[in-house]
Amino acid sequence: MNIITFGTFDCFHIGHLNIFKRIKDEFPDSRLIVGISTDELNYSKKQRVPIVSFTQREEIVSSIRYVDETFPEESLEEKAEYLAKYDADVLVMGDDHHGLYDHFNEICRVWYLPRTPQISTTALIEKIILEND
Ligand code: CTP
Repeated sequence: MNIITFGTFDCFHIGHLNIFKRIKDEFPDSRLIVGISTDELNYSKKQRVPIVSFTQREEIVSSIRYVDETFPEESLEEKAEYLAKYDADVLVMGDDHHGLYDHFNEICRVWYLPRTPQISTTALIEKIILEND
């Protein structure tokens, strides 16, 4: 079974690890494929150039033992093409996106996972800025 998920994974943190671990805990024999937002896509969706470059984010994510394959996500509009290209059976998204991807249920199962509380890349960046002010 192929499972696909997407994200920027900037300043890699425990919330990112937990989503991969949860997938493999639930489906140990699945193949986990991760679409990583390019620097340009992250800027267009979050108006922020990632702190860690795409090349390094991809190296980090692809080295995680729960992850089988990575690819650059270049456009938010191409999700259906990515699902087809990687033959996805399940699309996993954090529940901050709850309901937003339900239309892909025609192509594959859509599974929303609860976010790890109290951590995000944005919160980490804000903490670093505040502590150095
Ligand atoms: N994620 C999670 N728990 C968190 C943070 C992120 O489960 N505390 C999940 C997101 O739901 C998403 C994936 O990790 O499925 C990648 O999220 P990403 O946007 O890269 O990370 P964030 O920390 O949410 O980044 P930002 O603060 O820039 O929005």
